[in-house]
Amino acid sequence: PTVVYQLPDGSTSSVDVPVGQSVMDGSVRNNLPGIIAECGGSCSCATCHVYVNDDSSAAFGEPTLEEQDLLEFLDGVQPCSRLACQLVLTPDVDTVTVTVPSADA
Ligand code: FES
Repeated sequence: PTVVYQLPDGSTSSVDVPVGQSVMDGSVRNNLPGIIAECGGSCSCATCHVYVNDDSSAAFGEPTLEEQDLLEFLDGVQPCSRLACQLVLTPDVDTVTVTVPSADA
């Protein structure tokens, strides 16, 4: 699947992310800005916050309770906020688009 990252500086980056990897993995592996992923994907740091664009929300399952708990404490949280490490690509997904918040969002 392809993940399109809309970056804080207004640019866009499209990355092929293998099935089974997460939106966070795709960003970190390509050194994209904005997704820090301090905890390495174990759903405990919340530094991988992204907004899932409306047309892509169906690609991912509902957030777990752990994820919801972390999201609650983030600044700039919106209904479409997710932790990118929990957004794992499946074979059904063709393209998804996420918006990466700026560090001070
Ligand atoms: Fe830490 Fe996603 S990488 S919560």
